[in-house]
Amino acid sequence: MRVKIFSILYRSIRSIITNVIYLYQRIFFLPKDLEPAVKFGDKALGHFSLLRGLFYEFPLPVAYSLDIHGLIFRSPLIGASFKSDKMALDTWLHMGLGGLIFKTIMRDVREGNPRPRLQDVALDGDRGLVNALGLPGEGIEDFIGYLPRSGLWSHGRPLGISIGGDHIEDYIYSIRSIESVLSDERSNYFYELNISCPNTENGLTIGDDPEKLNDLLSNIREDISKVISVKISPDTSNKILNEIGEVCSSHQWMIINTGNTQFRTREELGLSKINFSINGGGLSGPALFTRTLEMVKALSGLDIPIMATGGVSNLSHVNALQNAGASLFGMATSLVLDPYCVPRINRQLKENVYDRTN
Ligand SMILES: Cc1cc2nc3c(=O)[nH]c(=O)nc-3n(C[C@H](O)[C@H](O)[C@H](O)COP(=O)(O)O)c2cc1C
Repeated sequence: MRVKIFSILYRSIRSIITNVIYLYQRIFFLPKDLEPAVKFGDKALGHFSLLRGLFYEFPLPVAYSLDIHGLIFRSPLIGASFKSDKMALDTWLHMGLGGLIFKTIMRDVREGNPRPRLQDVALDGDRGLVNALGLPGEGIEDFIGYLPRSGLWSHGRPLGISIGGDHIEDYIYSIRSIESVLSDERSNYFYELNISCPNTENGLTIGDDPEKLNDLLSNIREDISKVISVKISPDTSNKILNEIGEVCSSHQWMIINTGNTQFRTREELGLSKINFSINGGGLSGPALFTRTLEMVKALSGLDIPIMATGGVSNLSHVNALQNAGASLFGMATSLVLDPYCVPRINRQLKENVYDRTN
């Protein structure tokens, strides 16, 4: 009942805030832009932290414990890599995520693309997001400055560190920098390689080039034995998907994460140039689910744990992906649109376990 009430409340408040900000933008002839609403929401979360027990504190599924290469997940729901605001990440862990992945960190500080670069979209009645943020962020030096002492470790849940790069050397530099501050202090973490990043020296992403990915993994594995998740874009062809699967199979302590945003042009999404500065962006949300399921099925024959990310927002998604071979479920858009889906699914998982054991 509490979940239902707060879910309605959250969605109503989000809709009011977003519409007030859109109205303000219209009155002052500013482009429509979702980012101010997101920033406002993140700040507001901070003010509610004293009432966390009432609003955000929910149990994990009681009987649930999943061991993946020594990392223990007490819920299979994982916060996908998309957010850097610590308060939001902390809140979602309190709500019952079994782990989360930090927003992709790049070697250097980046502004990202010009705004507007984030919008709400509705495709065939499904609400989602489109972003062309361009991986803005603080860069590796600042990141490693606070990472070992981040309050997020206190949850005792595995944290993923998503690494991006313009060149293979960037990935290696960032991972080695993180290891230099983290390996002696923390153990409950893994790396995720965001292989859909802008450019490598041959003009392809590492996600387009399984041989490059193999070089990268071999280099990391020379002296680092942390778990590595490889995040594969839904835009990847099935041929390359299978080749990446084979590459991952040839290394130890791997996870495959099937899913990122799906590229769509501005026209396909009905956005104008004024409201979206780049000619296309990454779609996320329910429209991705069919491809996520397809990718899980394609990779399920490999002996590698699969995290399924893309369009997950309810128990039937989780069940379908689990039946297809996934064991972890990444969520991004659903955390923005209604984070109460986390305690809802956790409770239903608990009931499923209860049903099975009785
Ligand atoms: C605003 C936004 C920013 C994102 N940033 C990243 C990122 O930095 N690194 C990454 O690997 N994926 C990023 N993603 C992709 C998500 O992690 C996720 O794979 C994708 O949104 C599909 O999942 P969903 O349908 O649950 O949103 C981002 C997604 C959104 C919506």
